[in-house]
Amino acid sequence: MSFDPTDYPDSRSRRQFLFGMVAAPLLVSIRGSRSEALPDSSLTQDAPISLPSAPFSRAFDFAKLDSWITPNSEFFLRSHFGTPRLDVADWTVTVTGAVNRDRTFAMDELFRFPRVEEVVTLECAGNPVGWGGVSNARWTGVSVATLLELAGVNPEASEIVFVGSDGGEEREAGGIQVDAYARSIPLSKALQQSTMLAYRMNNEPLPDQHGGPLRALVPGWYGSESVKWLRRIVVSKVEFKGWYQLNRYYEARRNGTRIERTPLGPVRIKSQIARPSNGSVLSLGVTTIAGAAWCGDAEVTRVELSFDGGRTWVESKLGSEHEPRAWRLWSYDWRPRQPGRYEIVARATDSRGRLQPLERDSTIVTPYANNWCDRRRVEVR
Ligand code: MTE
Repeated sequence: MSFDPTDYPDSRSRRQFLFGMVAAPLLVSIRGSRSEALPDSSLTQDAPISLPSAPFSRAFDFAKLDSWITPNSEFFLRSHFGTPRLDVADWTVTVTGAVNRDRTFAMDELFRFPRVEEVVTLECAGNPVGWGGVSNARWTGVSVATLLELAGVNPEASEIVFVGSDGGEEREAGGIQVDAYARSIPLSKALQQSTMLAYRMNNEPLPDQHGGPLRALVPGWYGSESVKWLRRIVVSKVEFKGWYQLNRYYEARRNGTRIERTPLGPVRIKSQIARPSNGSVLSLGVTTIAGAAWCGDAEVTRVELSFDGGRTWVESKLGSEHEPRAWRLWSYDWRPRQPGRYEIVARATDSRGRLQPLERDSTIVTPYANNWCDRRRVEVR
C-alpha cells in the first residue's frame, strides 16, 4: 500500500485504522502501565542497556558518562523496525507536496550546499528519568530551509512531514502494518537554520543505524522527530495524521474526566545523575557526584543538588563545554558530615528561569517527556 501522509485514513490498512481510531483512548489508558521501548519510569542507569521489548534499540550507558560528546559506538539507538537494508549508493531525497515544483536531490548535491554544524543532544521522548535514551553528538548537514527554498513553499503550507524508509510490522504495537516511519513538525520549526538533514555524525559519515546516509535532525525537539533514512519531505497544508503522529509520540493529560492530547514539541528541562549509582556504599571522604543536564529551547544555567529531600540545595560546577541545544555536564564534590542513609536529588534551571519539577506530574498519562528530578539512594559509612 502506498504511503501518502496527507491522505488519511485511507492510506492505512484496515487493521491500522481500527487500532488508531477505535483503540486510541484505550491505548492511552494502558500506556502508563505497559512496558514499552524505553519508557518504564522506574528505570535508572542500573537497568539493562537493551530491553527485550525493543529489540532494535539500545541505551547509552549513562553511568559511564565522562565526555561531552558521546562516541558514535555508544550513542543510544531507537529504531522501530531495525536498520533497513538500503542501497545507499544512489540515495536521493525528494521535496514534494505543497511546493511550486517537486525537487529531488542526490547526496553529492547536498554536500555542495552550505554546511550547518551543531552539537545537539538527542533525547528519546520515552527516555525515563535516569536512563540512557539520551546522547550528545556533533551533527553536520544542510538546512532543511535551503531545500524548501529551492522547491518553493506554498503560502498556505503549515507543516512538513519527514518520511523514512523503514516500515512493516510494528511489533511493539501488536504487529500492525505501518508503511513508513514518518513524523511532522511545524513549518516554522523546519525553517530554522539549525533544522537540518544530517549526513555526518561526530565527523564521520552518518552510521547506518543512526539513519545513514541521511536523516532529519530537529535540534531541541524530542528524538522522534529526527526521522532516519530520510527519503521524502512532504510540505503539507493540513495536519499530519500518520500512525506515529497520532498513536505513538504525543502527550495526553487527564483533565477531570477528559483526556487532552498535545504534540510533544521542545525537550523539557532535565538533569540526570550518572554517578553514584543507586545503593552505593560510600566512605566518609569526598564523593564526586556527576551528571548532565539539557533542555530544548534555552540553555541550562544551573544544576543544584539536595541531600535533604529538597529543603536545601547546593550548586554544582557546570562543565565548560556548552552549546544552546546540547547537554551540559555538571559535577559536585560532596563531603557528607556524618554517616547515614542519604537521598541525592538533582535539579536544573534554564536561562528562561524554568526549574525542573521535583515530582512526577500525575496528570500526564503517556510515558513521554518525563523530566522530574532524578534521585539516588546511597549509604555513607
Ligand atoms: N526514524 C526512522 N526512520 N525510524 C525510527 O524507528 N526512531 C525515532 C527517530 N527516528 C526512528 C526514526 C526515535 S523514536 C528516536 S528517539 C530517534 O530516531 C533515535 O535516533 P538514534 O537511533 O540515532 O539515536
